[in-house]
Amino acid sequence: MDSSVVVVGSLNADLVFSAERMPDPGETVAGADFAVHPGGKSANQAVAAARLGARVRLVGAVGDDPHGEMLRASAEAAGVDVSAVRVVAGVPSGVAGITVDARGENSIVIIPGANGMLAPGDIAAARSHSVFEGAAVVCLCLEVPMPTVLAAAQAGRDAGATVILNLSPYAAIPPELAACTDVLLVNAREAGQLLGSGDLEPSSDWTATDWAEAGPAFVRAGFRKVIVTLGARGAVLLDPDPAAAVVPLESTPVVPVDTTGAGDGFTAAVTVRLAAGDSLEDAARYASVAAALATTRPGAQPSYPSAGEVEEKIRHAGRDAER
Ligand code: RIB
Ligand code: NA
Repeated sequence: MDSSVVVVGSLNADLVFSAERMPDPGETVAGADFAVHPGGKSANQAVAAARLGARVRLVGAVGDDPHGEMLRASAEAAGVDVSAVRVVAGVPSGVAGITVDARGENSIVIIPGANGMLAPGDIAAARSHSVFEGAAVVCLCLEVPMPTVLAAAQAGRDAGATVILNLSPYAAIPPELAACTDVLLVNAREAGQLLGSGDLEPSSDWTATDWAEAGPAFVRAGFRKVIVTLGARGAVLLDPDPAAAVVPLESTPVVPVDTTGAGDGFTAAVTVRLAAGDSLEDAARYASVAAALATTRPGAQPSYPSAGEVEEKIRHAGRDAER
């Protein structure tokens, strides 16, 4: 089996402001540090997947500016095939303004720039260059236009790949996209936005039982296999096939310094392990460890672990549990 993956979506230059705490509306706070890192959810997913050992192709768009050069170079240095990352003349690359507080929590504003120019025609071009051929998994997020995400999901389905959709940043999903999605990845906030209204108000305090009760609502929204990531509280896996199952996944205890991109690390690890033939549950357990490791280092792309590091951490956790 070819365990290659295709990631379609965004690349952003992350402009990271570190401060003791987030400013309140109308407030100015003095920060401690500033850094520029390569980011963007899809570029992060591609880099994290490559570091975990997968063969990765990235489909995206950057501007013809220094940020664009940095973004392509960073992905390429991690071993990602960037030949389907188009350079758009006269448009700036995507940027993300990120504030990180002393607890490692972040808040992010993104400006799409060239990401907004990634069009269904780019997916058609990638198809004609056989980019999707032999892909085991296609990984998608919502930082590029919805018609493009849909075209990529259809390309993944046509190639016989498993299609993973990270519902971030939240947007209403057309039914055709839900129909092409095999696994949905959301955090508690996005789950709330997806299921929102009615009497369901998902939150990160929910127990596995609460999530189990929300299972049918996900199915009504068009999604059967769902992973909800809950940060330091772990994750839950919902799968109505064959029997309604809810699997709580414990988080790995770590001291976080920067949670930026941890969700992308989780998504990448699920992608890589599914491509390698793991069950969704095993893939999600592995991803919990990979994402926890990513929070212990600054930045998104610079923080993703190798497969060796993840395995070492799993062995450690096993030893600690035996004691
Ligand atoms: O998920 C983290 C990412 O979200 C950052 O790298 C930023 O670029 C935004 O896309
Ligand atoms: Na990090």
